[in-house]
Amino acid sequence: MAGDWAVELHGVRKRYGRGRTAVHALRGIDLTLHHGSYTAVMGPSGSGKSTFLQCAAGLDRPTAGAVRLGGTEITGMKENKLTALRRTRVGFVFQAFNLLPSLTVEQNVVLPMRLAGHRPDRRRAAEVLAQVGLADKARRRPGQLSGGQQQRVAIARALVTRPDVVFADEPTGALDTTTATEILTLLRQAVDTQGATVVMVTHDPAAAAWADRVLFLTDGEIIDHLDRDAIDGPRLAPGHPDHLRPDRLAAGRERGAPPYRAHADRIAARMTSLAGPRARTEAAA
Ligand SMILES: Nc1ncnc2c1ncn2[C@@H]1O[C@H](COP(=O)(O)OP(=O)(O)OP(=O)(O)O)[C@@H](O)[C@H]1O
Ligand SMILES: [Mg+2]
Repeated sequence: MAGDWAVELHGVRKRYGRGRTAVHALRGIDLTLHHGSYTAVMGPSGSGKSTFLQCAAGLDRPTAGAVRLGGTEITGMKENKLTALRRTRVGFVFQAFNLLPSLTVEQNVVLPMRLAGHRPDRRRAAEVLAQVGLADKARRRPGQLSGGQQQRVAIARALVTRPDVVFADEPTGALDTTTATEILTLLRQAVDTQGATVVMVTHDPAAAAWADRVLFLTDGEIIDHLDRDAIDGPRLAPGHPDHLRPDRLAAGRERGAPPYRAHADRIAARMTSLAGPRARTEAAA
């Protein structure tokens, strides 16, 4: 059933411009994402990651194909209806935080509710601010917070309406490693404990390693993927003898110690192999 999926893309294409100068940013994306899944999107610069995110989130319209969010077809939806859907059923986190500096932290968090014409739910705001560890910062302004704290406000704002899906474009791109880890932990927790669905673009294998699945995008096509389960193995019932297999014990230690270093190494290796031919061509040019 359509409603079982948080995100569906069918034959999505995006072309910028026309004729000889046209750029084919997406060349036919087919993708279905479960509710409660965490997906990372990686690929070389210009491969179409941001375009993919914008089309999937209803911020931009594909040239061809169909997009559904939480079972609702958004292709061809009138702009005002699409805007309303975005405000209630989609959350966004950007590299540059995108908070309004003149509003307090709490006012920033309830902004999606206000924009959707709903009464700001201050209890819900307090709840999500507590989730991101900023319960005591509600009355501050973004300028009085560190970068990592500002990004946590952005995550609280993205989660406040309990959206079908949270889209994040390089959410850790402007942060140091320690702060990035805090943000990735929060996104992971949102998936694991709140049942949120997250789609995150990143160029950092260590960040991508937090996701359940990594999609590799090259020249507007998804050409490969890597699952975290492929390393950890499927979840076993408690007491199953396979729990004691050495590889599973190692995987268990790995799982208990984010950022999943062995998995990040695999992702990095896959990225290098994808970038290889292109990098060689460029070197030869
Ligand atoms: N508004 C636009 N008009 C014309 N071309 C565009 C536009 N936006 C993106 N493109 C082109 O589409 C392709 C994909 O761009 P996109 O921004 O999706 O890449 P990306 O994978 O997010 O790259 P990066 O890692 O550098 O952010 C690129 O060739 C880009 O130049
Ligand atoms: Mg981009």
